[in-house]
Amino acid sequence: MRTPWEYRYARRTKNMGSSAIRELLKLTQIPGLISFAGGLPAPDVFPVEEFKNACDIVLSEVGSQALQYGTTEGYLPLRDMIARHSCRYGIKVGAENIQITSGSQQALDLLGKLLINPGDRILVEEPTYLGALQAWNAYEPDYLTVPIDEFGMQMTPLEAALRASPKFIYVLPNFQNPTGVTLTIERRKKLVELADHYGVPIVEDDPYGQLRYEGEHLPPILMLDDRFQKNGEVNYRGNVIYLSTFSKTLAPGIRLAWIVAPAEVISKIVQGKQGADLHTSTFNQMVAFEVAKGGFLDKHVRTIRKVYGYRRNVMLKAMEKYFPEGVSWTHPMGGMFLWVTLPEGINTVEMFEKAVAIKVAYVPGTSFFAKGGGLNTMRLNFSNANPEMIEEGIARLGKVIKEEIEAIK
Ligand SMILES: Cc1ncc(COP(=O)(O)O)c(C=O)c1O
Repeated sequence: MRTPWEYRYARRTKNMGSSAIRELLKLTQIPGLISFAGGLPAPDVFPVEEFKNACDIVLSEVGSQALQYGTTEGYLPLRDMIARHSCRYGIKVGAENIQITSGSQQALDLLGKLLINPGDRILVEEPTYLGALQAWNAYEPDYLTVPIDEFGMQMTPLEAALRASPKFIYVLPNFQNPTGVTLTIERRKKLVELADHYGVPIVEDDPYGQLRYEGEHLPPILMLDDRFQKNGEVNYRGNVIYLSTFSKTLAPGIRLAWIVAPAEVISKIVQGKQGADLHTSTFNQMVAFEVAKGGFLDKHVRTIRKVYGYRRNVMLKAMEKYFPEGVSWTHPMGGMFLWVTLPEGINTVEMFEKAVAIKVAYVPGTSFFAKGGGLNTMRLNFSNANPEMIEEGIARLGKVIKEEIEAIK
């Protein structure tokens, strides 16, 4: 039925497709289906008891404050805590640089609202985080894409794209969503150097940085930028806006994340956020603070690393066993995803139905390409399913892939 609304939609809605991932997530409801499609953390590691106790404490000790409107910037003790934690990772900032958001997804939307005019060029990795494209498409940018390889964003095409004067660079340096690859230290430094040379600021999106299962922690781009600018003295200069979230370290359902930005930018973001939701849930911020304080967050992250690291290993081993020749995949050192490349000619969108028919799901890789492409790729999540399901799901997927490869021979 036609409603009086459709032909009144704003022009920008033309660019707003519904998320392929959201649609696919519906399939996780099919009984017996093993889904590697969503970006879901493992429900078995959610700190339910800690949240229960924290709710109790917050409601009995500061109940009326928790149920009241709060400031747009966010709950100050939580912002202080985030600033302190950030300093540990070499990001020297204070609470005045921290904006709490309702998930990093809102942070991306607010940055779009703040920075993107129709036709502005935004430089993104290819492939990149689908949620960022979705958030920004409504603001009608043009994308400049820079391909990535196993070491992250490639520097020669980056420099070529920078010559086209993008408004900002969007980069996911750690265990990138969707590919799982990590930007090497050499490339991080080069990125900072090139961004400085061409005068283009950077948005660094880092939801997974703490979920490292092997190798050394690498410094955030934000820190490298400060070092570069200040000749060794680390002090937040503001050339890089940094995003992170509690979704992967505590729970995504609380919708809590943060932006690190210069204080002047935070006051502008505050204006944008007031128009969106006034502020992020006071209750959730206070409960999360109660859960996270006193060292629990660090302890919990160690548990998550163990569980996810093991699941990643199970998936990699199962792929060796069940995937046919001609298929390659990334070996992420952390995070929640890995990326599979099938022989040219196979279309993972078309293959999807066949996979679902034998009850296994993935995300077709093309969804993560701002300008199309990647038809023979797919993203697999290894954090959500338990090890037995991972083994079984990869065996099923191997079967579908083999059949597809046979069919194109
Ligand atoms: C790269 C990236 N940015 C942002 C988000 C959004 O996270 P949040 O749950 O904080 O909205 C995700 C979630 O998967 C992500 O992978």
